[in-house]
Amino acid sequence: MLCPNLVFLTEDASHDAAIDLINEEAFGPGRFVRAAERVREQGPHDRKLSFVASDGGEIIASVRMTPIFAGAVAGHLLGPLAVRPSHKNLGIGRELVRIALNAAQACGSEAVLLVGDPPYYAPLGFERTKAGALAMPGPFDSHRLLAACYNGVEAMALAGVIRHRDRG
Ligand SMILES: CC(C)(COP(=O)(O)OP(=O)(O)OC[C@H]1O[C@@H](n2cnc3c(N)ncnc32)[C@H](O)[C@@H]1OP(=O)(O)O)[C@@H](O)C(=O)NCCC(=O)NCCS
Repeated sequence: MLCPNLVFLTEDASHDAAIDLINEEAFGPGRFVRAAERVREQGPHDRKLSFVASDGGEIIASVRMTPIFAGAVAGHLLGPLAVRPSHKNLGIGRELVRIALNAAQACGSEAVLLVGDPPYYAPLGFERTKAGALAMPGPFDSHRLLAACYNGVEAMALAGVIRHRDRG
């Protein structure tokens, strides 16, 4: 069960410093070399689809969404997703993913992609993509590239380069 003082908020600029600390704590300096981070560096994330969890006013978890194309499909890249150690295993990560997916679907996103562990994300609606069909600006494990798709788009049919939508 969630903490009694927990609320989920749409991200705004006042959360930036806390989110940086949460991601540093969760992923360390190696986070900047990951392929998904390379895509995120190509342009801004979408704050309207990015969310934080606040426990009694303290930001303790975050998920961000970045607008991308995956080949010709207009979607979003989910991540980083991180929960502070003090608040793990309370369902907060899963709830943040659900909120972000609902928001993305409501705004017309055709596919939400991420690089992550299938056992965690499959119950949330993510499926494997076709190995070798999608490219990112850097190496990644294609078995961990997952997608939740909408409007008739199929994860196994996604193909092409994953890039920030600012890259056209
Ligand atoms: C992964 C993370 C976001 C999960 O958040 P959380 O709020 O603690 O997780 P939830 O409470 O929603 O879910 C907990 C369940 O997921 C499981 N789980 C956690 N991480 C998992 C993983 N990497 N793979 C499979 N299952 C995982 C837990 O064992 C637990 O299982 P249970 O419900 O059967 O007990 C959090 O542990 C975290 O910030 N980790 C460090 C950063 C990270 O790895 N982010 C994800 C990058 S893809």
